[in-house]
Amino acid sequence: MEDQTGHSVEVLPIGHTFLVPDGGSIMVVALASGWKWPNVCGGQATCGVCLLEVQEGEEFASAIGRDEALRLAFNGKAGNPRARLACQLRIHGPMRVFKRGVRLLEGQLTQSCKDNTG
Ligand code: FES
Repeated sequence: MEDQTGHSVEVLPIGHTFLVPDGGSIMVVALASGWKWPNVCGGQATCGVCLLEVQEGEEFASAIGRDEALRLAFNGKAGNPRARLACQLRIHGPMRVFKRGVRLLEGQLTQSCKDNTG
C-alpha cells in the first residue's frame, strides 16, 4: 500500500509494516517509532548487525555505497544482491524485508494497537 506518508515496508518474520518516506531508512523509521532494530554501531556501517534480506522490491533499494560494500564483504555477503545493511539502505518504493530481532520495545503502542484499545 502506498500513501502520501511513505512507502510500505513489511518486515518479516514479525509481519509489521512501516511507512518509510521516499529516500528514508527503514531502520531510522523503526527506531523512531519505538521499535528495536538490532545494531551496535548506531548506523555507521561498521557492525553489520543491522543486516537484512530484501525479499521483494529490490528495484526500489538505493545503490550500495563504499562503506556498505566493505561491511557486506566482511560479513561474507558480497555478491548477494538481497543482503543489505538496514542503516545504509534507502527506500524508494514498497518492499518486503526479512530481519530477525525487530520487535516493539516494552511500553510502546503502535497506532494499530492504540486503535484497538479504544
Ligand atoms: S547499524 Fe551497524 S552496520 Fe548498520
